[in-house]
Amino acid sequence: MSLKILGIESSCDDTSAAVLCDAKLYSNIISTQKIHEKYGGVVPELASRAHQQNIILVVKEALQEANLQLSDIDAIAFTKGPGLLGSLMVGTSFAKGMSISSGIPLVGVNHLHGHVLAHMLREKEEATFNPVFPYLCLLVSGGHTQIVLVKDYLDYEILGKTIDDAAGEAFDKCAKVLGLGYPGGPVIDKLAGIGDSQKFQFNKPRIPELDFSFSGLKTSFLYTLRDNQKYDASFIEQNVNDLAASLQRTIIEILIEKLEKAVRMTGIKEIAISGGVSANSGLRNGLLALANRQGWNLHLPKLKYTTDNAAMIALVGHFMYLSGKISNPDIVPQARLDFCDF
Ligand code: KG4
Ligand code: ZN
Repeated sequence: MSLKILGIESSCDDTSAAVLCDAKLYSNIISTQKIHEKYGGVVPELASRAHQQNIILVVKEALQEANLQLSDIDAIAFTKGPGLLGSLMVGTSFAKGMSISSGIPLVGVNHLHGHVLAHMLREKEEATFNPVFPYLCLLVSGGHTQIVLVKDYLDYEILGKTIDDAAGEAFDKCAKVLGLGYPGGPVIDKLAGIGDSQKFQFNKPRIPELDFSFSGLKTSFLYTLRDNQKYDASFIEQNVNDLAASLQRTIIEILIEKLEKAVRMTGIKEIAISGGVSANSGLRNGLLALANRQGWNLHLPKLKYTTDNAAMIALVGHFMYLSGKISNPDIVPQARLDFCDF
């Protein structure tokens, strides 16, 4: 008898459903909301409306692609937080409705735990991935930047985190002032590939231990634009590739320096990265080279599992179900959910 988990993710602007059988992925459907692009960021009200429109189709498609009926499913895992409350409520209500009408148990999942396990996801035809614990996970997304010590599938400790902006926010906010739209990370990544990463120097934070800060970098970036635009109105236009490359290099340096410090402090060389920013080609290539030099065992998630998806929620749901962490039917979503909370 295999264990079949239906995963549902709706914490921000991606409506997603996935089916996992014995921890192998049978389907992972993602509907990304394009409507936010023209507003330069996610508009919460529009996000919840779009989830409402998409969720039935997305869940149906996930079951169909896996060739299963709802009655075949052993547990429904859904994102209970953190995220936008209106968005979380759509996924939560949908999962609760399905659970009540079918009698299938519910598992409320912390979205961030999904990111931390995302590199373990394997499709049904692939060999199983057997993680080595403990490992260090650099979680870098639009809302979070932290180094997590992962002691087991469901046992985590935060070693360091950002004291202000997240790395993804730094990409997005700087991209916005360059007029590059939202989300900015992927565009900066692309332009950085053809720019000179040494052309501009931005301030790097001096934060103790393993914490991060990105607000000073953002200010330094803005001042560079302001100072140069005084004399040259076409400064951004003329330098956009070099600005993108220099910004990306600085963000990567900040991330990698702290990760190296975490390795020195813990002696752990089993490393994973996760979250939307872990799709960044400069970060991936930089870490691959470093891992090679330092003898790290580096685990990069597949690109499709770096950003928000239900597959990672189903995977956490799989381990929670096995350890008896079943949710009560009166569970409510939590916009603010601490990393270590289940
Ligand atoms: O994990 P995610 O999908 O959502 C959150 O939970 O926040 O991460 C979204 C973030 C955005 O800030 C986006 O700009 C960034 O990930 N991102 C990237 C890249 N792809 C997505 N940042 C840098 N380079 C990329 N290729
Ligand atoms: Zn996320």
